[in-house]
Amino acid sequence: MTGNITFTMIKPDGVEANNIGPILAMINKAGFKILAMKYMRLTQEQAGSFYAVHKERPFYGELTGYMSSGPIVAAILTKDNAVTDYRKLIGATDPTKADEGTIRKLFAKSIAANAVHGSDSDENAIIESNFFFSQLERF
Ligand code: CMP
Repeated sequence: MTGNITFTMIKPDGVEANNIGPILAMINKAGFKILAMKYMRLTQEQAGSFYAVHKERPFYGELTGYMSSGPIVAAILTKDNAVTDYRKLIGATDPTKADEGTIRKLFAKSIAANAVHGSDSDENAIIESNFFFSQLERF
């Protein structure tokens, strides 16, 4: 299945602003199917494990604090070229640099509160999906 899945989260700002529905609609309209999904709140420790790759970055504390500040929606999405196509759909990490019509251009508030997460490689899509979902939770 390599190449066919990506992992996403709708971040606390996206949930708080009532943008779960509009973001999921854009995801479906772009041809992604939802293979797994849950609505939950991470502890700071869980957010720290998920973003462990950024542990040495200066924004790590802000990132993990932010990602545990409210509920998120986690999902595995499936489509051909899922990682690349989803990164195109969401736009640049910094919303001021995101292309028009992308999820982050439309909904993100800042680099930290940037509406959604999307996996950056096929390998990380698998690792991130396994962090949140068992095989029994995938359809
Ligand atoms: P995401 O795609 O979830 O992957 C890592 C996250 O770190 C990224 O989105 C941003 O929300 C966050 N991030 C990256 N750079 C910065 C920064 N300079 N300050 C705060 N957060 C950042």
